[in-house]
Amino acid sequence: MARKILIFDTTLRDGEQVPGAKLNIEQKLTVARQLEKLGVDVIEAGFPVSSPGDAEAVRQVALAVRKPTITGLARAVQKDIDVLWESIREAESPRIHVFLGASDIHMAKKLRTDREKNIRMAVDAVKYAKKLCPEVEYSTEDASRSDFDHLCRTIEAVIAAGATVVNIPDTVGYAIPEDFGSLIRRIKESVPATDNIILSVHCHNDLGLATANSLAAVFNGADQVECTINGIGERAGNAALEEIVMTLKTKQRSFNVETGIVTKEISATSHLISRMMNIPVQPNKAIVGANAFAHSSGVHQDGILKDRSTYEIMSPEDIGLKEHLLVLTARSGRAALRHKLKEMDYELSDQMFENIYNRFLRVADRKKEMQEEDIRSIVEIELSKVPETYTFVSLQVMSGDKALPLASVTLQKGEDEIRDASIGNGPVDAIFNSIDRLTGHSAKLVDYKVEALTTGKDALGEASLKVKINDHVYSGRGSSSDVLEASARAYVNAFNRFFATVDND
Ligand code: KIV
Ligand code: ZN
Repeated sequence: MARKILIFDTTLRDGEQVPGAKLNIEQKLTVARQLEKLGVDVIEAGFPVSSPGDAEAVRQVALAVRKPTITGLARAVQKDIDVLWESIREAESPRIHVFLGASDIHMAKKLRTDREKNIRMAVDAVKYAKKLCPEVEYSTEDASRSDFDHLCRTIEAVIAAGATVVNIPDTVGYAIPEDFGSLIRRIKESVPATDNIILSVHCHNDLGLATANSLAAVFNGADQVECTINGIGERAGNAALEEIVMTLKTKQRSFNVETGIVTKEISATSHLISRMMNIPVQPNKAIVGANAFAHSSGVHQDGILKDRSTYEIMSPEDIGLKEHLLVLTARSGRAALRHKLKEMDYELSDQMFENIYNRFLRVADRKKEMQEEDIRSIVEIELSKVPETYTFVSLQVMSGDKALPLASVTLQKGEDEIRDASIGNGPVDAIFNSIDRLTGHSAKLVDYKVEALTTGKDALGEASLKVKINDHVYSGRGSSSDVLEASARAYVNAFNRFFATVDND
């Protein structure tokens, strides 16, 4: 049977230590409720002795969120433990979490103590906490840089004093997976009493190895992983909950463990934390980055549309996203565009699809990403096209506050490319004058509008206009990421309507 791995979320404590990420009580409650929905086993809600506000926030979380165990952090001193206990005593399942440096560096440089005193202090703190709360977690801070024998003696002593959870932190993110995994295995072998408690790990990401180290620990017998949403936390952050949980799920056969996490809540939780704490998630962040399920290369898009397993090792639905995202760019192939058009409910003939695809490629060449509105505009323009007496080919415009606006337009008529140039009152007027000269007709502009269809500097612009030719009004539309080109296309489109009507007469 699969072993259960407990997920201890410290987003509201280690995560909240990120500069500028402090939450008010209301916000902490919202996050805690979402963590409960996510199914975490333990919520570390704060460090109550750090401020009366934090103590009150932890108390409110303890009162409101009943399913997970609620804990908070305390140094190994009575005052911290008392303040913490006051905050969590009304929780359905409270836990006191005490920490004390275990490495020689911390003892000599920070705590100014020695190994014997260090163990006595740890035992005293655990005994004191145990009188208040049946569940006591003891963290051997800086464990990965601690002397192994001292670490084992400490663990043995705190378990004898009543600790029910012993945490092995890689406080400064110094460990590598092989060493950290073997540290956990050796602790288990050297301290048999660890079989009767929860052995926990808490990894920081200074070398980018927090997730890998946590997983190596699980592989070697750790029962609980401490982590944060989006990997936020002190310095380079903590192990990311979503990475650990999704690795354990995706590689279930390798680990043979399970967690109680409702993975469909991962995406919503990640967004909530990012918004509340004002910490953006990098787009390429594993699992929750905006691009984590976005396929942009044409070859990948084609594969995904044929069978998702070609380029997907987990499904976006598993973390609560609707579906994978095909980012349409100039590299997207026909299959991706066809899929998108179907999604948008367009039924198109093969010829019409080819026209749309060719136009899509030309526009996409200039735009980084094609959004739905860009595609809709291209389709509508193609669908509303009339037989093309003239086809727009290219445009050159010279304009400026001192120069006389001059436009040179090239159109295709039958087999021939024809070009003419004209000046005007402005660049648009110069373009329209050139087109008049090329068609041999003079049109009077009666309405003209350009609007951006999408946001951003490279937005697709759509020009729509009405012209009067021989007392009849004809409308035209054109789109391009260049508004002058969009205008030229719209004007040519209106002329083509005129010629289509004339021919029909
Ligand atoms: O990183 C660390 O060592 C900690 C402990 C207090 C658990 O955050
Ligand atoms: Zn930490």
